[in-house]
Amino acid sequence: MAPLDPHSFTDSTHTLTTHIALSLYFDFPSATIHGAALFTLSSPHSGPLCLDTRSLSIHRVLSPSTLSPLPYSLSPFCDPIKGTHLSLSLPNDVALSSFLITFSTSPSSSALQWLSPPQTFNKKHPFVYTQCQSIHARSVFPCQDTPAARIRYSALLNVPRELSAVMSARHVDRRLPVSGEGYSNLLPNGFNSLWCSETRVVEEFDMNQPIPPYLFAFAVGELGFREVGPRTRVYSEAADGVLEAAAKEFAGTEDMIRQGEKLFGDYEWERFDLLVLPPSFPYGGMENPRMVFLTPTVIKGDASGAQVVAHELAHSWTGNLITNKNNEHFWLNEGFTTYAERRIVEAVQGEDRAVLSIGIGWRGLNDEIKRFQDNLEFTKLKTNQEGVDPDTFYSQVPYEKGFQFLWCIERQIGRPAFDEFLKKYIATFKFKSIDTETFLDFLKANAPGIEKEIDLVLWTEGTGIPPDAYEPVSNLYTKIVSLANEFKLGRMPREDEVADWQGQEWELYLENLPKVVEASQVFALDARYRLSESNDYEVKVAFLQLAILSKCRDFYGEVEKTLKEVGRMKYVRPLYTALVQGIGKEEEKILAKRVFAEARDCYHPIAQGVVESIFAKHL
Ligand code: BES
Ligand code: ZN
Repeated sequence: MAPLDPHSFTDSTHTLTTHIALSLYFDFPSATIHGAALFTLSSPHSGPLCLDTRSLSIHRVLSPSTLSPLPYSLSPFCDPIKGTHLSLSLPNDVALSSFLITFSTSPSSSALQWLSPPQTFNKKHPFVYTQCQSIHARSVFPCQDTPAARIRYSALLNVPRELSAVMSARHVDRRLPVSGEGYSNLLPNGFNSLWCSETRVVEEFDMNQPIPPYLFAFAVGELGFREVGPRTRVYSEAADGVLEAAAKEFAGTEDMIRQGEKLFGDYEWERFDLLVLPPSFPYGGMENPRMVFLTPTVIKGDASGAQVVAHELAHSWTGNLITNKNNEHFWLNEGFTTYAERRIVEAVQGEDRAVLSIGIGWRGLNDEIKRFQDNLEFTKLKTNQEGVDPDTFYSQVPYEKGFQFLWCIERQIGRPAFDEFLKKYIATFKFKSIDTETFLDFLKANAPGIEKEIDLVLWTEGTGIPPDAYEPVSNLYTKIVSLANEFKLGRMPREDEVADWQGQEWELYLENLPKVVEASQVFALDARYRLSESNDYEVKVAFLQLAILSKCRDFYGEVEKTLKEVGRMKYVRPLYTALVQGIGKEEEKILAKRVFAEARDCYHPIAQGVVESIFAKHL
């Protein structure tokens, strides 16, 4: 066995899959998908072939031409991180270049969140969506679930006719089901009649560009949309209020796509649609190609919502075109994207906004390095992730240290040269999955002598923050940081000083306060600026974290409300952590356990797992 990726059973000596044709029957009452998948290999293969699965029932493995069964086995144990290993045995006499698997997901499939009608906005219809990054695609269909194995795919989604579907793929058709299509007659339990029932429709999709499996995505529900640009629609549950607000918030998207093209080369994915998900969506945004997924918490009417879109858009070049080979090189995705996001923000919102965002990131990076002081491996850019669950160790280090590394190179060679370098890097490696060494070799070849100016090994393999990292400067940034320092001496900002602050100014201010302050100071700050009631969750959560750590119990009602309203891990993780970490916090621990028991069903399975791991560490 020659592993390619610490998070996958894929064997580097086996042939890789190049295309998967999926037929998926969505059974909402049982929260199950019944599927058939036709795999095409890059060349004919005999003997063992390893696939990743998690929470899947495998029904049959067949030769597609003869429909004769092929032997397979499932590992008897489920690896807590990698899941269950499906080993096929392809015939030795005639090497096959395709095979067929029928399977069903289970209600606990980690990529899928199934929402019952009462959990949705309109309360009328159910909803389901995926979140496959980092290693959850294997809980939707069996696959070589490593970004090193790029796949094209096509999909037939059979859904109740009152619902519609979107995917990270080109929408081909919405039509009546056809008997026997896509091996649907092989699905379990007489599925052909169910597949063709008059209550169902088929939504057909095609993705003909090779993507890493973590970019596979769909959502099914009662969806509506608004046009916001020539290649952009915003989709969400068909509720007027949400769609109107979203359309307004994202009106500047086309402008950002054009800036991206100027900086990084053509936009290769044809469409750039946005899908606003229910509040349980575990991330701020997810860069699914052609259809970015977003939390509704980004809709707040200031500059920061567009920044999340800028980030996911930037992934169209860095992450989706050039992809990290495995999660150990995750900084290649997120560090580059954070850099690219800020270049787009600088172009459309101005330098002050970009510097503010760099400043928030700088503070965040410094806090993360402290958080990992007993686990320095996670302060490196290139990390060893053997036995590591990427969801548990998600952090800002790859984003912000990665950003700092690229910013340092930009300062060294100058912006014009760095812009040229980036364009060439993207053109050279597009549609490839690469590692840190490949990037460094390309850098040294294209910026000769760079290794004498910047310690590339220290940056990529060293722990902590290298000395040539850089805290940003601007009048606004410096003013906010110094106001935060004055708070420590007992001075609160005056109303005229904060009059034109948006959410990000408050976020930076709060991040720069000490972690624990006098309870009376917390009350005074809230009495004046009502941060606990802010409708900007970045501000509200930063404030509530300060309140919990400063033991201001009056705010616990607001903490509970927040934890029950949103499932974005950026908010859920720090609030639960603040409640349960440390000694002598019985009341907080009881509160955390009760709130989680009550809110659990509303969280995406990935967020449920993350809260459970916080509890396992501290309770
Ligand atoms: N690709 C990430 C989200 C992700 C990372 C999902 C790792 C699963 C595993 C996405 O592009 C991202 O970084 N989202 C950020 C947005 C922010 C940096 C603007 C988020 O969700 O907070
Ligand atoms: Zn990202």
